[in-house]
Amino acid sequence: MSRVQKAIAVLAGDGIGPEVTRAAVSVLEECASALGHRFDFIALPFGGIAIDRCGEPLPAETLDACRKADAVLLGAVGGAKWDSQPLNRRPEAGLLGLRKELGLYINVRPVKLLGALRAMCPVRLDEGETIDMEIVRELAGGIYFGPRQSSGSNGDEIASDMEVYSAKEIERVALYAFRRAAARSKRLASIDKANVLASSGLWRRTVERTAKGFPEVKLDSLYVDNAALQLVLRPAQFDVMLTSNMFGDILSDEAAALAGSIGLIPSMSLGNGTALYEPIHGSAPQLAGKNSANPIGAILCAAMLLRESFGLPREAMAVEKAVEHTLAAGFRTPDIVRGGSRMIGCSEMAAQIRAAVAESAMETEKYGWGV
Ligand code: IPM
Ligand code: MG
Repeated sequence: MSRVQKAIAVLAGDGIGPEVTRAAVSVLEECASALGHRFDFIALPFGGIAIDRCGEPLPAETLDACRKADAVLLGAVGGAKWDSQPLNRRPEAGLLGLRKELGLYINVRPVKLLGALRAMCPVRLDEGETIDMEIVRELAGGIYFGPRQSSGSNGDEIASDMEVYSAKEIERVALYAFRRAAARSKRLASIDKANVLASSGLWRRTVERTAKGFPEVKLDSLYVDNAALQLVLRPAQFDVMLTSNMFGDILSDEAAALAGSIGLIPSMSLGNGTALYEPIHGSAPQLAGKNSANPIGAILCAAMLLRESFGLPREAMAVEKAVEHTLAAGFRTPDIVRGGSRMIGCSEMAAQIRAAVAESAMETEKYGWGV
């Protein structure tokens, strides 16, 4: 078995960020010690906590360490304390700055309904149907980064944000989505609002042109309003979904609800350098410090990191299996609790998953990775 040695920058951030990140780190530590890998964790200030400590949400030393690391693990940013700050000095600006600086233009959000949580799905699924999709969200452009203006006088205020995309920006993320679809069920749904927006017209034309290089992938272009409807009506129809920055932000929260809780969904951001992994749930300030957050989104980030950045697919699978095993045993954080299941806190959930990883690692040592 090949042992790896890697450095992981850990940006725990605000709200429940520190609790869920601690959980993910503890699972990675278990993988490392059980299987002989070495992971060095470098904790760095980021988000609101960095504003308080260093005067800015993305300190230069944090960015620098992220560039040098083999992967970045991020918790969440934001909270009421910083809500009155101007947009460019809020914790969220640090997150957008980090995505931009690291050149992270692809964001993958896998939304999978786990077997043990099937009853948590709020929509009806036919027998044999499930939800297992990936949203590929453009992450470095669009309205998040377009020109913005605010002006006001005589009692009226005007503010604008501009959605801007170039064909090249669309094509590079589309290429990734087509490759991802080609490796899965060969279906890609591209989301736009081409009946109204010029930027969406360019989006659709560019995606359709890119499709010519992937004759094996079936492309469907959908308007975003229809996509929102279809997601609730028949989520099983979707496999890989390609979206702009803004549409992906919205549709991924909707899709997460279908999997039982937004606390379960990880994400991976890729670009020109270091990849970044963050759960999509945000800082959830109302849960912070109560040990009741769901760490599974963050723990599944650790699994994605092992597979995609460190080339350790079996370790990744061991973590994913440990999550499923723990849920199947009936353990639940409050967001996914149901009659008959056992409610536990964030740290207990992490400990259960960690123990399940240790157990499968022990079997691996004894019998090899098996099939
Ligand atoms: C997400 C979040 C962020 C986004 C916020 C916190 C800036 O909602 O990652 O989905 O809008 O991208
Ligand atoms: Mg969001």
